[in-house]
Amino acid sequence: MKNALILANWKSNKTKNEAKTWLEKVSIVKTSLDLEVVIFPPFTLLETISSYIKMNSLPFKLGAQNVSQFDSGPYTGEVSAKQIKEYADYVLIGHSERRANFKETDEMIKNKVEKTIDQGLFPIVCFSEMQQLDQLSNKDIILAYEPPGAISTSGPNASAADPNSVSEFVKKISDNFPVRVLYGGSIKSENIKQYLNLENISGVLVGGASLEPSSFTQVLTNAS
Ligand code: PGA
Repeated sequence: MKNALILANWKSNKTKNEAKTWLEKVSIVKTSLDLEVVIFPPFTLLETISSYIKMNSLPFKLGAQNVSQFDSGPYTGEVSAKQIKEYADYVLIGHSERRANFKETDEMIKNKVEKTIDQGLFPIVCFSEMQQLDQLSNKDIILAYEPPGAISTSGPNASAADPNSVSEFVKKISDNFPVRVLYGGSIKSENIKQYLNLENISGVLVGGASLEPSSFTQVLTNAS
């Protein structure tokens, strides 16, 4: 049985009530895969969701969408890995929206990975080109390959990348980086299976289709 990671990246969406409704409605479906479902809510919801998961023994894990490249201290507006550790197991690092909108560099991403690992959290590093990995020497990471133009909100022509080219690209990465690699970009219930079936893909990152409980439940159903 393949163990697959399914990440729900909520981006800058949802209030407390909306998050609770989502948790009430999304059910983990029995699939032929062993699914680990990780929710990446905004920072403001980590505590609420973490308590709700514990109280109701829900089979979800939690992740943060970003982390400070510094330790705790005088960095207004930043959230450190030590603070995240109180609620989450995973940290998303270097998402293309952060690289583009907040000018995150490979150097910053490397620092974030180090802070995350120092706290015993799992960094999931998003990238679209091989050279973005050049500064990463640590192999205790998970990679998320998100090809340009594949993210559903990236433009009018956005579409999921061809699974065969994803597979070939990821095979090349495995030579340098013997780590788990996920695919992200326009994953929906209709196409999830094609990506999870790829031998060298260990899971998927779902953005838009993770927001509505019904569409995300369908994504999980079709993962089998
Ligand atoms: P999408 O987002 O599923 O809406 O394409 C994926 C992502 O931003 O990681």
